[in-house]
Amino acid sequence: MSTTYKLDTSTSRANPTPQPLKRLTVPAIQRRKFEGKTEEPLVMLTAYTARTAQLLDTHCDMLLVGDSLGQVIYGLPSTLPVTLDMMCNHGAAVVRGSYHSLVIVDMPFGSYEKSPEQAFESASRIMAETGCAAVKLEGGQSMASTISFLSQRGIPVMAHIGLTPQAVNALGGYAARGRSQEEHEKILADAKAVADAGAFAMVAEGVLEPIAISVTKSVDVPVIGIGASPQCDGQVLVTEDMLGMFDRTARFVKRYYNISENIEQAVTKYAEEVRSRSFPGPDQLYQPKK
Ligand code: KIV
Repeated sequence: MSTTYKLDTSTSRANPTPQPLKRLTVPAIQRRKFEGKTEEPLVMLTAYTARTAQLLDTHCDMLLVGDSLGQVIYGLPSTLPVTLDMMCNHGAAVVRGSYHSLVIVDMPFGSYEKSPEQAFESASRIMAETGCAAVKLEGGQSMASTISFLSQRGIPVMAHIGLTPQAVNALGGYAARGRSQEEHEKILADAKAVADAGAFAMVAEGVLEPIAISVTKSVDVPVIGIGASPQCDGQVLVTEDMLGMFDRTARFVKRYYNISENIEQAVTKYAEEVRSRSFPGPDQLYQPKK
């Protein structure tokens, strides 16, 4: 469906015309996996701004306000310095810019690991300030009690297992996980633990394909792959990565566009026109009424 937007100047809200589908809910996402199978894979992309959310919304089932915004938006070296304030501000923008997708906001490093109570405080703030429907946190067995605590208190949790970027220092880098038998078994145990704890879905990142397939088969909740397998219940990518914003990306990224080249071309032309005084031209100028 192609959607246009009318700006409501009193609220700065861009209202879509025609009004797209109703917003997807956590149970609706969960129901997409039935008797262990997901007929139509779930589509998820990251979004950090209202305008990006508007553009992605009708094409996606879920929008993830990922803490990858640390690197993508703020130029930080990793996701570790990302704050709750950042997640709340960007989460609220994405909820304002979307009508259809389920919006999930990442819990930043340090905001949930200490105790289930700390996680509840952070997650309830994220939900109250953004209007999102769910939060995502990294970790498997070690986070099971926290996932259970949040889920039982009305906070839907998406888990994130395999390559967990907030643990980059412990993992020693961003390499794919599951190459040793021990790691292989840990990933499967993590998946079962978070599903049993009540996670409504999970991201499986950077894991060997056979492990991703086993994980997907072994749990009842949707498994969203990134660097995992097409046999997962859905896929997620960082939008800027798939649009070709960066020169270097992980092996698992497919570039669907070369947005950085297009930006370069447009900015080169703009700079030339400013310097040659051909911009602004007659169409961009105001003249006195005759
Ligand atoms: O932060 C993020 O963008 C993520 C996805 C890559 C899954 O966690």
